Amino acid sequence: MEPLLDRLGRPLETLRISITDRCNFRCVYCMPKEVFGRDHAFLERRELLSLEELARVVGVFAGLGVRTVRITGGEPLVRRNVEHLVELLAGIETPDGGRLELALTTNGSLLAQKAEALAAAGLNRVTVSLDSLDDDAFRAMNDVDFPVQRVLEGIDAATAAGLPVKVNAVVKRGANDGDILALAEHFRGSGHVLRFIEYMDVGSSNGWRLEDVVSAAEIVQRISGRWPLEPVALEREDATARRWRYADGSGEIGVVASVTQPFCGGCSRARLSAEGRLYTCLFAVRGHDLRAPLRLGASDEELAAELRTIWTRRTDRYSELRTAETASLPKIEMSYIGG
Ligand code: GTP
Ligand code: 5AD
Ligand code: SF4
Ligand code: SF4
Repeated sequence: MEPLLDRLGRPLETLRISITDRCNFRCVYCMPKEVFGRDHAFLERRELLSLEELARVVGVFAGLGVRTVRITGGEPLVRRNVEHLVELLAGIETPDGGRLELALTTNGSLLAQKAEALAAAGLNRVTVSLDSLDDDAFRAMNDVDFPVQRVLEGIDAATAAGLPVKVNAVVKRGANDGDILALAEHFRGSGHVLRFIEYMDVGSSNGWRLEDVVSAAEIVQRISGRWPLEPVALEREDATARRWRYADGSGEIGVVASVTQPFCGGCSRARLSAEGRLYTCLFAVRGHDLRAPLRLGASDEELAAELRTIWTRRTDRYSELRTAETASLPKIEMSYIGG
């Protein structure tokens, strides 16, 4: 099959689907309480794509070359019956007769209850967001007083269920940059890949400032000062994280440097919001409505034609073009599009 390429020659390979815009956390860098408080207008149930609609759209994407599907939110595990969605997606056959690689990004709060069912349904791996091991700092960052211990239990449950686990830590200066070494120490030798993420200017509500970003170079330097690190070659061309391994063989870490070292050149990711809008960049302002054609009875071929048109016109490379001015433009929220 000929790969479907955008205007910059990038294939469509990964689809990230947000299945809810709700979350049980209020992380200060993502859903600050002042903006996502009691009166916030979240999507209504009828506005969301049903699990069957989601599976149908993913099937069409698989026919166009998508190989990896990541389920995100908000917090995907607050949506009822996610296991069933995983089961539906696991049943999709790719054009070469293979199966999709299914990953899920979660805050880990409900993972202890759900890990086994997710693994049984066919999930391949999970990524757990965890910004600090210090209970007070963690409770302050999630801003709903959620104890760090329960997230660690979620990670253990996923491991026990046979799911490979990656851990994502967003680093915000003054909030948790003092916890970098403790995180590294905890996950060294655990078999879990810990990835540090530069705080990004996503959305319009987190009050992002360049001064709050701790660069990947600084993070690597700090860890390497304690436990020497060596660079590792990238696994795939469209990777978000640069990899580093501990020289003493205790595993590896990753750094996602979308502010200081953007990686748009290989970006093969499309994103679907919970209400069925397709975004060709994390920083896009507008999405393409797929729900209307879906509910008006469009055939798979018609949907595929629409997706081909959208992808072949794509020119997005926001992180490479980011300037002080673009950072203050209106953008969709991370909790709406799922990171
Ligand atoms: P793997 O397939 O396990 O490597 O996952 P991933 O890194 O693609 O996804 P994950 O959800 O773990 O994302 C890690 C961090 O990178 C999050 O903060 C995302 O928001 C950010 N990220 C993911 N994809 C993109 C992207 O296309 N552009 C930018 N700028 N950031 C991204
Ligand atoms: N900058 C970087 N990463 C962010 N995430 C949420 N908001 C931001 C931000 N402003 C991360 C979450 C999760 C992933 C999906 O996105 O912590 O790991
Ligand atoms: Fe929820 Fe994740 Fe956003 Fe935190 S970063 S508020 S856990 S969606
Ligand atoms: Fe892809 Fe947009 Fe992120 Fe660049 S900024 S890597 S184009 S999603």
